[in-house]
Amino acid sequence: MSDWIDFYDLKHSVIYVNARHRDVHYRTIAEDIRAYVPSPTAHVLDYGCGEATSADLIATASAQLVLVEAAPNVRASLTMRYAGHPKIVVISAEQAAALPKASFDLIVMHSVAQYLGEAELDGLLTMFRALLKPGGLFVLGDIVPPHLAAPAAAFALLRFGAADGFFWAAAFGLVRIFVSDYLRLKKTVGLSHYTEVAMLERFKRAGFAAERAARNIGHNQHRMTFLARAL
Ligand SMILES: C[S@@+](CC[C@H](N)C(=O)[O-])C[C@H]1O[C@@H](n2cnc3c(N)ncnc32)[C@H](O)[C@@H]1O
Repeated sequence: MSDWIDFYDLKHSVIYVNARHRDVHYRTIAEDIRAYVPSPTAHVLDYGCGEATSADLIATASAQLVLVEAAPNVRASLTMRYAGHPKIVVISAEQAAALPKASFDLIVMHSVAQYLGEAELDGLLTMFRALLKPGGLFVLGDIVPPHLAAPAAAFALLRFGAADGFFWAAAFGLVRIFVSDYLRLKKTVGLSHYTEVAMLERFKRAGFAAERAARNIGHNQHRMTFLARAL
């Protein structure tokens, strides 16, 4: 599903209705991820981090933060943003696959699984299991359930906009998403959806003990976050 990587590799992704939305979005996610950092000595990996404009919030709470981004232009801009940051390293998906085993206390992949085929997701679960230290935690966020995903996402965005002062931009942004490549890619390449039961089964097959978190990371509570530890 690499077309989704191209879709996200734009200077101004249509997914964010304006700069305020992008920054509030990434701050919300960073605050939620920070709550999972187990200690200030923790090594953390954020896979498919996107523009990650608030990654320093996570880095401040940990010893090292590795940001993995497959889209080359997004990665280049992350590299510039965090150049010289003492705790943040930016790498590609290929470099992540070559990292030493048992390197991380916390691995997060948020709002990426819907863009992966099932075999691709299984491959990453296996990789993350190997990259986690014994007792480490894998957090899989923003899993999209099969029913009512689109209206729930639209409603959650409008509510997010109303709470944070960009309601009309959110409404306009929804129209822009509607006429963008998003719907074409959704039809041709597809988006992956999972029920809670199906995802728990997938974790089990990949050698994880997992449970659904009480709330999803970010603003859309129709979607699910899972907490998993290697068996
Ligand atoms: C919606 S953004 C999520 C960014 C960030 N994690 C967040 O929650 O805002 C989706 C991300 O998935 C990444 N992505 C899409 N398809 C991918 C694939 N096949 N392999 C790795 N990353 C992928 C994109 O590059 C993009 O950064």
